[in-house]
Amino acid sequence: MSRAYNFSAGPAILPEEVLKQAQEEMMDFEGSGMSIMECSHRGKEYSAVHEEATANFKELLNLNDDYSVLFLQGGASTQFAMIPMNLLGEGQTADYVNSGTWAGKAIKEAQNNGNVNIVADCAKDIPTRMPSNDELSLSDNAAYLHITSNETISGAQYKEFPETNAPLIADMSSDILSRPFDANKFGLIYAGAQKNLGPSGVALVIIRNDLSEQTLGHVPTIFQYKTHIANNSLFNTPPCFSIYIMMLVTRWIKKTGAENLYKQNAEKAGLIYSTIDSSEFYSGTAVPEYRSDMNITFRLPSEELEAQFIEKAAEQNLKSLKGHRSVGGVRASIYNAFPVQGVEALVSFMKDFEAKNG
Ligand SMILES: Cc1ncc(COP(=O)(O)O)c(C=O)c1O
Repeated sequence: MSRAYNFSAGPAILPEEVLKQAQEEMMDFEGSGMSIMECSHRGKEYSAVHEEATANFKELLNLNDDYSVLFLQGGASTQFAMIPMNLLGEGQTADYVNSGTWAGKAIKEAQNNGNVNIVADCAKDIPTRMPSNDELSLSDNAAYLHITSNETISGAQYKEFPETNAPLIADMSSDILSRPFDANKFGLIYAGAQKNLGPSGVALVIIRNDLSEQTLGHVPTIFQYKTHIANNSLFNTPPCFSIYIMMLVTRWIKKTGAENLYKQNAEKAGLIYSTIDSSEFYSGTAVPEYRSDMNITFRLPSEELEAQFIEKAAEQNLKSLKGHRSVGGVRASIYNAFPVQGVEALVSFMKDFEAKNG
């Protein structure tokens, strides 16, 4: 069996070690005679998994006791709605940075729930980028400021986060745990799991507990953060299997060493960007200072060449390099679990393709 080098933006590659362990434990989880999918979510086997996943996130993100770690269903998209439902009160304004497609979706949901101030809008800029901090026209007394730390489609990534008085909220779906940052500066962080953390079906939410207190009673119980904080994400049946894989992924990150992974991520991205920069054939689509280390987006001289590039790469086991359907081009998503060898194989393919077609 040969595993593909899977450059998909999500669902994305998972660590081989994690997949193997899940396979080994599939029929009989720790002597229970059941798969973890078949164990009660209130039984001792699953409880231990849930607790370890929570503890691993607390440790990896260095969270203090003011924060809760939640595992919620509905993906990151549900968070687009839950955030304003819980945190944007009557008469308040929420600040949003519009940096691209994903920020745009978060904004749309917030606008359905209350007043929104777009503090900067670079969603349509080409090359793609994030706004600098002095471009932001922040509201006085905003309920919060929402940013998208990494725009998965455009390939632009915040390198330094804004400083604000209002609680800072970030959609980190495509770069959570890929680089060092201070999570304790945020009011809320959320991430769909299917890129850097595990399978789809669960979103990780880190929330500063005091923020959850302000939710008004008309918000349905299941959509209130305080419901999930009070019940340790076990208010109803959680997505047990997805959380189990996330637990294995966080265990793998700890074993590999988060700092080693972070360093490797920058090196992997650097290999592809330097290939782009040393060529007249490839052109990066993001402003260099905002280039994403997770989703590397670039163009070739024509759409025909891009289609050939993607097809020929797939024949060499370099899969899912097609850019998002809304923007075209090429996108190499290289999350934590993506191996260095796969990046080297892509770089070598890029050079070869250029030599033949440039
Ligand atoms: C940055 C970002 N936010 C949100 C989402 C939506 O995530 P979900 O499909 O889990 O709702 C995605 C999905 O690709 C994303 O990349």
